[in-house]
Amino acid sequence: MSNKTISRVTKDRVIRTVIGCSTVLLTMQAPMASADEAALNTIDSFEKIFGVTKGKRRNHTKGFCFNGTLTLNDASILAYSNSELFTGQSEVIGRLSHKGGKSAPSDANIGQYGMSLAITTASNGINLMSMNTEDFFPVSTPEAFAELMRAKATSGDAVKAFAKNSPELQRYAAHMAKRPKVLKPYEGITFNSVNSFYLVDANNKKTAVRWSFIPSATQSINVEPSQDFFYENMQYSLDKGEVVWDMAITIANAGDVIDNAAIQWVGEHKKIIAAKLRVSSISTEEAGQCDDINYDPMVLSAGLEPSADPILQARRNIYAIGLSKRLTEKQHISKDEK
Ligand code: HEM
Repeated sequence: MSNKTISRVTKDRVIRTVIGCSTVLLTMQAPMASADEAALNTIDSFEKIFGVTKGKRRNHTKGFCFNGTLTLNDASILAYSNSELFTGQSEVIGRLSHKGGKSAPSDANIGQYGMSLAITTASNGINLMSMNTEDFFPVSTPEAFAELMRAKATSGDAVKAFAKNSPELQRYAAHMAKRPKVLKPYEGITFNSVNSFYLVDANNKKTAVRWSFIPSATQSINVEPSQDFFYENMQYSLDKGEVVWDMAITIANAGDVIDNAAIQWVGEHKKIIAAKLRVSSISTEEAGQCDDINYDPMVLSAGLEPSADPILQARRNIYAIGLSKRLTEKQHISKDEK
């Protein structure tokens, strides 16, 4: 089997598994109309705020694919998890994106970004991750997020009214305002899990963690910033050297709040650079393998588990609806092209 065929098989397996999981989940949740309704309403708000780019994601709409590998860096992580992520080499189909549902935000403007990983281990365990550049989430519950999105879809005054009553959002806004405003290429940026997860060892002992993918080396802007220069910049970075991120896993301290993505873990923490993510190639969404993948952050194989953070379950429901819509639209687009 050629490398291309192996990658194609991996991609098909990821898609089948993810669609399967989403279907099972939606079936299981049939009696809980409110969760489905909340997810549909949130998608509806995204569509009102940003419009719809047919066949594309409702958030993190602009982006491109990459392929790479994940390999163990520090074996001390094996004391916490028996995940195959930390044993053999895993294959990665990733996606880098701009936050927001606009189809064409300019790369030359400073923004928030996302990195998604479909990591297939040596014995075909699938682990899906979607991270972003925020240090923590603006609100702690899916209900509050849905309300915020509804306000954004309504008016500036509605957002102000929401913010007035939301100490969480005020804290987030104050934190974000203090962050340095520097334009960096995708390959020069740190991406955070934001939500918490558990590492699980062979005796089922669970350790709460959050993780970040931190550039292993400084990565610069190599080409003149313009509307769509990120792709060319990353190709240049790959051609002249390498693009690698360190997977830094932060172990929770005893007092840390686990199930609330709006609360940062501050102060001294044990951190392990567990693995290295090495990019081998990049491709457009049309030519690459990431476009049809649903990066549901709760699909994890043995050794990793999601926390009970309600945002994670909400993301699962919302991403499944997003996927259903965009894949259906893609079918119509390709039929119209025939
Ligand atoms: C309730 C909270 C959230 C909502 C409503 C939400 C909503 C969405 C939606 C609608 C999509 C497009 C899904 C698709 O069509 O496939 C998306 C994608 C994405 N989200 Fe979220 N999101 C939430 C929280 C988060 C958090 C906490 C993170 C980061 C830690 C995150 C990172 C991402 C990334 C990276 C993508 C792009 C995935 C890809 O490349 O396919 N989201 N989100």
